[in-house]
Amino acid sequence: MTHFAHSFPIFPEQRIFQSDCEKHQYPRVFLAQEKKRYYLIKSTFLYMSNLATTDPEIADIVRREMERQRDGLELIASENLVSRAVLEAMGSVMTNKYAEGYPGKRYYGGCEFHDMAENLARDRLKELFGAEHANVQPHSGTQANMAVYFATMKLGDLMLSMKLSQGGHLSHGSPVSFTGQFYRVAQYGVDPKTETLDYGVVEEMARKERPAMLVCGASAYPRIIDFKAFQEIADGVDAYCMADIAHIAGLVATGLHPTSVGVTDFTTTTTHKTLRGPRGGAIMCDAEHAQIIDKAVFPGMQGGPLMHTITAKAVCFKEALRPSFKEYNRQIIRNAKAMAETLHEMNLRLVSGGTDNHLILLDLSDLGITGLEAEVALGRAHITVNKNTIPNEQRSPFVTSGLRVGTPAVTSRGMKEEEMHQIGEWIGTILHDIRNEGAIKRIGEEVASMAGKFPLYPE
Ligand SMILES: Cc1ncc(COP(=O)(O)O)c(C=O)c1O
Repeated sequence: MTHFAHSFPIFPEQRIFQSDCEKHQYPRVFLAQEKKRYYLIKSTFLYMSNLATTDPEIADIVRREMERQRDGLELIASENLVSRAVLEAMGSVMTNKYAEGYPGKRYYGGCEFHDMAENLARDRLKELFGAEHANVQPHSGTQANMAVYFATMKLGDLMLSMKLSQGGHLSHGSPVSFTGQFYRVAQYGVDPKTETLDYGVVEEMARKERPAMLVCGASAYPRIIDFKAFQEIADGVDAYCMADIAHIAGLVATGLHPTSVGVTDFTTTTTHKTLRGPRGGAIMCDAEHAQIIDKAVFPGMQGGPLMHTITAKAVCFKEALRPSFKEYNRQIIRNAKAMAETLHEMNLRLVSGGTDNHLILLDLSDLGITGLEAEVALGRAHITVNKNTIPNEQRSPFVTSGLRVGTPAVTSRGMKEEEMHQIGEWIGTILHDIRNEGAIKRIGEEVASMAGKFPLYPE
């Protein structure tokens, strides 16, 4: 037995490799060396043979998670599937280095290649969004928001932001987040009738509350956001304005949603949602605010940057600059609209009546089921979604009356409108008859069959 003996399939290629092994009855490593040296070079990444040898328990968990992703349909609106190039950058030796500080001004020696990687990440992000300044060090979207708040507000200042239960995010002032504990918070919601933002109401609240910071951007809002209107409201009361475009960053980067960059004072984002990069955050602003942002991120809030992630962010931004990324984001929207159409035909109620972006919010109140029950039932048919609060939610965030459905990940697998109509039908069938075990089982099998036609990592 060689140290490759524990190799197991992580990605589809290895199934070919294994079947070759079985056919020829060769030890795997022998086959790899003799027939396909190429596989051997790729093996660390594709087969995770080192991980399997060192820690078979964890390797097995990774394999099972890969199978879960491969065999099911990922409809969580904030998730996506990164490219192999992004995976490789994340799993690279760039993780071995401390690089506190910024390119050209590090607290450690030996950072010449980290400077190059971070400069590329910053330059590409600026090019992608047309930003004057970019900071790519925030470890996550919440960290990016935290840095903007630290740069612009004193403890106890007031922020005006969107309610979590109506589409906002925890880091926009929720009492259970640091934001609700460090700052005073006033919150706007959506109009009860249209379930969309009412900028007149936001303006009225801003005049009354006089916030130091006006926050816009959302986690569960299916419509276009008017960032210009938000900045004008903030200007009228001498407040800063921060747009958190975490969910729609890919759509904004490709011009499919109006931009906030160069419009609002600050733009924050995650890099792992529609942008389809590694898990992480970033901040963009005008040159005038560059220094306060950089200082707030480091040394204000974080220590050593995650250089392997920053390297992978650079790769993601390069991918996002390609014309095909625009086409991908176009398809995300087409797919969301196609699924919305079918869900509507299946007599399900869509919050705000439809979608302009990558997500759909379903109100399940009329069906007499909770978001939690829906999430569990669909999960058993290998359709992964998340329960979500809806405007005027009556239930707890752990139960909810709504469901959030998003198309970025299934679009990454190459699915189009035809598949979306089919998935919408499956969702409708299960939600209308949630205790029908036979239907859940049958749909689960059909889901697996559809998933099999759209490999996670085709080559
Ligand atoms: C609008 C918005 N901002 C910020 C975040 C936080 O990102 P992270 O989970 O990386 O902290 C999210 C996450 O879903 C989000 O939807």
